[in-house]
Amino acid sequence: MSAGSPGRKGEPLARKIILDCDPGHDDAIAMMLAWGHPDIELAAVTTVAGNQTLEKVTRNALAIARVAGITGVPFAAGAARPLVRPLETAPEIHGASGLDGPALPEPHHELDPRHAAQLIVDLVLASDPGEITIVPTGSLTNIALAVRTAPEIVDRVREVVLMGGAYGGGNWSAAAEFNIAVDPEAADIVFGAGWPVTMVGLDVTHRALATADVRDRIHALATPAARFVGDLLGFFAESYRSTQGFEAPPVHDPCAVALVLDPTLFTVRRAPVAIELSGTHTRGMTVVDLRAPAREDCRTSVATDIDADRFWDVVVDALARIAPQSARAEARA
Ligand code: BDR
Ligand code: CA
Repeated sequence: MSAGSPGRKGEPLARKIILDCDPGHDDAIAMMLAWGHPDIELAAVTTVAGNQTLEKVTRNALAIARVAGITGVPFAAGAARPLVRPLETAPEIHGASGLDGPALPEPHHELDPRHAAQLIVDLVLASDPGEITIVPTGSLTNIALAVRTAPEIVDRVREVVLMGGAYGGGNWSAAAEFNIAVDPEAADIVFGAGWPVTMVGLDVTHRALATADVRDRIHALATPAARFVGDLLGFFAESYRSTQGFEAPPVHDPCAVALVLDPTLFTVRRAPVAIELSGTHTRGMTVVDLRAPAREDCRTSVATDIDADRFWDVVVDALARIAPQSARAEARA
């Protein structure tokens, strides 16, 4: 389903995605982009502990569903902690709730009773080969569990397009990006599973900045969903300014959704990616080998550039499409 699903006859088939996330300010915007854009069909939303505890990020996901008027999409909670290590969260970026800034409405959506990994397995096995793309925007624990539960999903999934990693320096440590650093063992499983994996890392997401101009455009939409995003970006801007000195916040997670719906927004290069599991100062680093053209059988790729102006056009357009659905859903509530 997507906000634009009904009545899109004659348009090219939308790409069906499972969004596995830890909302999270930028995860929220990723979810709204996936819901609002007519070229994406949201098959499920699954949650994983990361930016905050599983309980908090799941509650946040359901609150976003209500704000955006998301209906007909299963939501399932997954792993409460990484495969091997204790959970690390990021309250200094996302606040105590994981989604500080806007008022969060009480969720209306019922959670699917299945573990996220089981829901992913069930949906992939029930789909045609190549039908489903998995878009993780949190740590990769659920996806690794799904692979270990049912390795046969690897050949049925079209591709994995994830926000995480970096080849030019991290944010959680000098070497590692947060989503990979939280659960490097899971990342190792996912990058090495043999399905196509595209890493949308800090190398591009640090160029997807919500500048004053972008925030003005979102504000001008004057819809409930846009106001919610405006409040999210207000908090996010202050977090990134005070913790990392950014003049405008990098909005990471929607970049992965955007790459699925319009690959021409990015430059992507095939390259081997190894996950550092044991380095004293580099644990969680994505070691990307860009020394030479990769072999044809290399299954991993990395995004190396983004057309940020067109990316924001796509995001603003998708937010604009959410308005009628959101208002109708609120009226029915
Ligand atoms: C990633 O970490 C999280 O805090 C964000 O939601 C994003 O997925 C960026 O490093
Ligand atoms: Ca995230």
